[in-house]
Amino acid sequence: MQKTLEGNPISEGFLSHGPAAPGKAIIDRDHAAVWWLTLDEIRDADWLKLASLLIEEERARSERFHFDRDRLVYIAAHAMCRGLLSYCLGAAVQSWRFTVEYHGKPELVSPPNMPRLRVNISHTRGLAAVALTVEHDIGVDVEWLQRDADTDGLAARMFAETERQRVAAANGSEKLDIFLKFWTLKEAYVKAIGKGLSQPLDAFAFDPEALEIAFRDAHADDPANWHFERYRPGPDYLMALAVRHPDKQRLAVDTRPAPLSYLLGLADG
Ligand SMILES: CC(C)(COP(=O)(O)OP(=O)(O)OC[C@H]1O[C@@H](n2cnc3c(N)ncnc32)[C@H](O)[C@@H]1OP(=O)(O)O)[C@@H](O)C(=O)NCCC(=O)NCCS
Repeated sequence: MQKTLEGNPISEGFLSHGPAAPGKAIIDRDHAAVWWLTLDEIRDADWLKLASLLIEEERARSERFHFDRDRLVYIAAHAMCRGLLSYCLGAAVQSWRFTVEYHGKPELVSPPNMPRLRVNISHTRGLAAVALTVEHDIGVDVEWLQRDADTDGLAARMFAETERQRVAAANGSEKLDIFLKFWTLKEAYVKAIGKGLSQPLDAFAFDPEALEIAFRDAHADDPANWHFERYRPGPDYLMALAVRHPDKQRLAVDTRPAPLSYLLGLADG
C-alpha cells in the first residue's frame, strides 16, 4: 500500500483508541505511528511541562542551543518522542534510553520484555515530528517551505538526473514544492537507513507521485521493501515517511497531530 496524505489527518487508526495500558503495547511490526506538533499550539506556560518530560541529559543539551527557536523545537521533538513511546508501549515517559549509532542516528535501547523499538525524529522551524515502529528501519523528515532556497542549485548538485529535470522544469511556487517533495522523501530514506547525508542523494531517485524509489545500482537496495508516505502538516510544511517492511500490504501507518493534552498530562503525572 502506498499512500499520499496531503490533506487532513486520518481520524481512524490504531492510535485513535487511546494510550496503551501499562505493559500492553498497541504497536507491533505491522504498525507505524507518526505524530507531528506545531509550536504555535504550545502556550508559554506549557513549555516547562514539556521540558519536564526530558531526561537530564536532554535538558542539558536543550540549554546549549544559542537560539530560542532551536531550543524549543528540540524540547518539543524529544518530549513528543518520549510521549509517543509511552502512548504506544504503556511505560513511564522518562524510562526511555537511547544510544547513538555510527552516523549519529539515535537508536532506542529497548527494555527487556519489549520488542525492538525503532524511532526517528525530525524538526524544522516551528514543527517537530516523530515516527515509531517495531524492528523495521524508519525515517521521517519535515521541512519548512523556505522561500529563498536555491532549489535549482541544490538539485543540480545533489539530486538524481530525473529529479533535477523535474525541479528545473517547474515554475513559480511549484519549483519549491517539487524540490521539497523530493528532499523530504530522500531525507526520510537516508535517515531510515541511518546513513544521513553521508549517503549520496543522487544514488537513488523518487517518483514523487507513485511514491516509489529506484536505485542507480540495482543491487544497492530493494525498492519492493520500501513504503513511503507524504504529508502536509500545515500550509508551510512538508513531511515524508520511509519504512522498510518485507510485506508492505500488512503495514498500517497512523499519522496525526500529537495530542498535546496527553503530553501535558504526562507532565502532571
Ligand atoms: C541526519 C541528518 C540527515 C539530519 O537532517 P536534518 O534535516 O538537518 O535534521 P532533522 O531534523 O530531519 O533530523 C534530526 C534528527 O535526526 C536524528 N538523526 C541524527 N543523525 C541521524 C542519522 N544518521 N540517521 C537518522 N537519524 C539521525 C536525530 O534524532 C536528530 O535530532 P536530535 O539531534 O534532536 O536528536 C543530517 O544531519 C546528517 O546526515 N547528519 C549526519 C552527519 C553527516 O553526515 N553530516 C554531513 C553534513 S553535509
